[in-house]
Amino acid sequence: MSRIAYVNGQYVRHADAAVHVEDRGYQFADGVYEVCEVWQNKIVDMPRHLDRLGRSLGELRIDWPMSRAAVEFVLRQVVTRNRVRNGLVYIQVTRGVSKRDHFFPPEDVAPSIVITARSSSPEAAKAQADQGIAVVSYPENRWPRVDIKTVALLPNVLAKQNAKEHGGKEAWYVDGDGNVTEGGSTNAWIVTKDGVLVTRPAESGILRGITRAAVLELIDREGLSFEERPFSLEEAFEAKEAFVTAATSVVMPVTRVDGRIIGNGHPGSVATRLRELFHTATDLQTV
Ligand code: PDD
Repeated sequence: MSRIAYVNGQYVRHADAAVHVEDRGYQFADGVYEVCEVWQNKIVDMPRHLDRLGRSLGELRIDWPMSRAAVEFVLRQVVTRNRVRNGLVYIQVTRGVSKRDHFFPPEDVAPSIVITARSSSPEAAKAQADQGIAVVSYPENRWPRVDIKTVALLPNVLAKQNAKEHGGKEAWYVDGDGNVTEGGSTNAWIVTKDGVLVTRPAESGILRGITRAAVLELIDREGLSFEERPFSLEEAFEAKEAFVTAATSVVMPVTRVDGRIIGNGHPGSVATRLRELFHTATDLQTV
């Protein structure tokens, strides 16, 4: 079965899906995106992702390309048409196609929208979670508006590639104060020796992760001790556990940071439990 993508009003073969060379996403990274997990035929936390999409669009003064209800409809369609039971659905909106000029285009230029979906293997994800991942630190070098989920991901690409070249699966950004901000495409967490979960406040320096929000609800429900505060790389080295969260990996244990073993070198019990319970704290909408 060939894959299908939605591009500006049409469902097309994925292999043929294209946007114009003068799309502002292509020329200026002038656009935003969202990634939702698809789990057992359900889109995970779609309302929260669309809320954040609306916020990102608003911050950049890009209009919705169509109504929110229409975006929801197409998201479901793309998941269904690609027969994705487990995987991801991706949505990207840019300021549209216009002659290259840094100023915003004329008002009649419509935003561009692309929606794609792809399957992934729950077994492979579980195998990775059973093993845990290594992360590699990287100096924070992004613009201050990381709260906006823009497609301008070049710093993230470079940080993650550096991690890969040093045996890691994720990068952890470290700011000028020595504190971990977040991952290249995840939020960062530790569990201290005293069993306290710690993650950085979302007021500045990080993307307000949707997975992070669900984990916060879970922590509250389970009555786990928790502190929302910055933590340093040094503190992470001494932690009992570490993990990252994102729609692409849900709760993923971290077993090494910069080559240093975290805890006993195996996925921690808190991260593993949060991973098991994760979907009970999410909004699940059948496709
Ligand atoms: N990344 N921080 C950054 C920088 C991210 O890019 C992401 C998500 C997150 C986690 O957000 P959420 O829990 O809402 O997925 C945190 C997506 C998945 C990506 O770029 O592929």
